[in-house]
Amino acid sequence: MLEKVEKMYEEVVKSLKNSMSLDNLEELRVKYLSRKGEILQLFSLMKEADVSIKKELGQKLNELKDTAFNLLNERKEELSLSNEKTIDLTLPARKPVAGKVHPIQRVLEDLKVIFGKMGFTIASGPEIETEYYIFDALNMPEWHPARKVTDSIYVSTKDQILLRTETSSVQVRTMEKGQPPFRIVAPGRVYRNEKENATHTAMFTQCEGLYVDKNVSFNDLKGTLLEFFRALYGENTHVRFRPHFFPFTEPSAEVDVTCFKCGGKGCSLCKHSGWIELGGCGMVNPKVLEGVGIDSEVYTGFAFGLGIERVTMLRYGISDIRDLYENDLRFLEQF
Ligand code: FA5
Repeated sequence: MLEKVEKMYEEVVKSLKNSMSLDNLEELRVKYLSRKGEILQLFSLMKEADVSIKKELGQKLNELKDTAFNLLNERKEELSLSNEKTIDLTLPARKPVAGKVHPIQRVLEDLKVIFGKMGFTIASGPEIETEYYIFDALNMPEWHPARKVTDSIYVSTKDQILLRTETSSVQVRTMEKGQPPFRIVAPGRVYRNEKENATHTAMFTQCEGLYVDKNVSFNDLKGTLLEFFRALYGENTHVRFRPHFFPFTEPSAEVDVTCFKCGGKGCSLCKHSGWIELGGCGMVNPKVLEGVGIDSEVYTGFAFGLGIERVTMLRYGISDIRDLYENDLRFLEQF
């Protein structure tokens, strides 16, 4: 009798271990462990067994039943994990899906390198700002439309806290830390209550630049931006400075680069001007310098703020700014 149980033990262990599918495992469960299964049937031997072996037989039968149950569950788990799929080792390996750097991020990386070579370091500031850093310290008059909720996105009008509308706030935050020289670029996101179209989004990226020292001139500003655009777009790039007004720079200008779509001939993208506006710039207004305790008789400086989406569009020939934010893989995989 004992031998019969031992034989059954060997058979059960072998067939459960070798079972290769959940269906087969179920068949084995019915065969051995169901109420009419072979193992439970063996328990009837107990009745006929001689008293001298009854104890050992009982132990062996229980051991057989427990082992079968445990093995069945273990194997079930293993087979479920492999989802019954057999591995075909002849198949070619799956290629790992590598992410790619977003075009805006690529431009920002290049920008940091180019300005880094010109001696600029990276600065940053908060995206949730106070009116002081966005407007007051930048010499923006009380009546300026950008102070209205129709133009800017306020977190709290009562506490005068808003999402920064431009990276120019970093100019003030940088200068209030000490005395010149300052030579920084500050890339980051900005937000405006803006209707979106092919060249405007409500959230976009700017990069502020600031250089304050003795004898800094408008010529330095022009040279720096020309150097940057030529390093980014190539030696034949043309840049144009158009007089403009910003309360925090005097004199001020807007900087344009030849339209990539029409090559300067004029098209709907550049509003038939042949140029695309990439940013604003100028000499830091003495009032801004004095506001942070810098002697404007001793120091001068220039500042600029570039729209990075536009810089990116010009670089890659993208004609709709919204493509940069729609996360369409057909678009993103091209870069
Ligand atoms: C400014 O934001 C000034 N702070 C720039 C500046 C800095 C002037 C330092 C002087 C000294 P402006 O609002 O023009 O200026 O924006 C700068 C650039 O951001 C624009 O030339 C454009 O390239 C980009 N830009 C502006 N609005 C949007 C928008 N809604 N979507 C995408 N890009 C925009």
